[in-house]
Amino acid sequence: MGRVLLAAPRGYCAGVERAIVTVEEALRRYGPPVYVRRQIVHNTFVVGDLTRRGAVFVEELGEVPDGGLVIFSAHGVSPAVRQDAERRGLRAVDATCPLVTKVHKEAVRFAEAGHRILLIGHAEHEEVEGTLGEAPGRIHVVDPARPDDVRLPEGVPVSWLSQTTLSVDETMGAVARLRERFPGLIDPPSDDICYASQNRQEAVAAIAPRCELVIVVGSANSSNSQRLVDVALGAGAGAAHLVDRVGDADERWLDGVETVGVSSGASVPEHLVGELLDWLAGHGYADTTPVTLAEETLTFSLPPGLRDRSR
Ligand code: F3S
Repeated sequence: MGRVLLAAPRGYCAGVERAIVTVEEALRRYGPPVYVRRQIVHNTFVVGDLTRRGAVFVEELGEVPDGGLVIFSAHGVSPAVRQDAERRGLRAVDATCPLVTKVHKEAVRFAEAGHRILLIGHAEHEEVEGTLGEAPGRIHVVDPARPDDVRLPEGVPVSWLSQTTLSVDETMGAVARLRERFPGLIDPPSDDICYASQNRQEAVAAIAPRCELVIVVGSANSSNSQRLVDVALGAGAGAAHLVDRVGDADERWLDGVETVGVSSGASVPEHLVGELLDWLAGHGYADTTPVTLAEETLTFSLPPGLRDRSR
């Protein structure tokens, strides 16, 4: 019968863990309702679970009543949103991942130095929306697949940054092309693609060449999960699919497949992977081998205001 190669690291990263615990801790301390601007992390199960426990997910601050407690999601917000919360007297707790905050700070520094900033990322993603707000008019979003589209005025210093959850290879390809177009292109102090995205991509790339099929657990709006599908295909998997939950998996995918690779995005609870492994075992793929590329030990402390968890 078939076998499963289980990529590691997979699942929760330090930023997601912190964001979810932030909402749980706010609920425990202050009781519902706790408002959360946008999905705290891009996973439908996590959002559904927190909703049942009293979190209220809103698109914009206008939906939060005066005096309400609002949490900003792991993807970050623009300064305009923070100012709006302050002006309205909302109690705001910021669950922005510290690795996203690092990119925001780089954007401010480059803008203050008079640069035009090429932000490689997906324009519709919330993280990009938040980073753009740090230097309105100075940041130009560059789709990683279309680096030739961006137009800049002549004679200005140009630097680049990226969304934290992109594919490493695609991003470096875009940077190389941008450097041809803008030879003086200035690098950020370190790459912005976060350790978690990078580790999960390397792990999936390691198993993909041995797999006729790779299944990635993750929601459709999760950038880092989608990139794992891209990386699996690019590294030689016969096919690769993203499933939100095991119910989305299709047994026809298993036709003629001997080895199935499994991974999950950084916002995915491990029990969803467990359900997929059970489903695979029920279809004759009970032999599971973990393939571990890195150990992760990073943790982030809770946002100010929630750090003392004993209260
Ligand atoms: Fe942060 Fe990377 Fe996770 S930016 S939220 S550690 S995917």
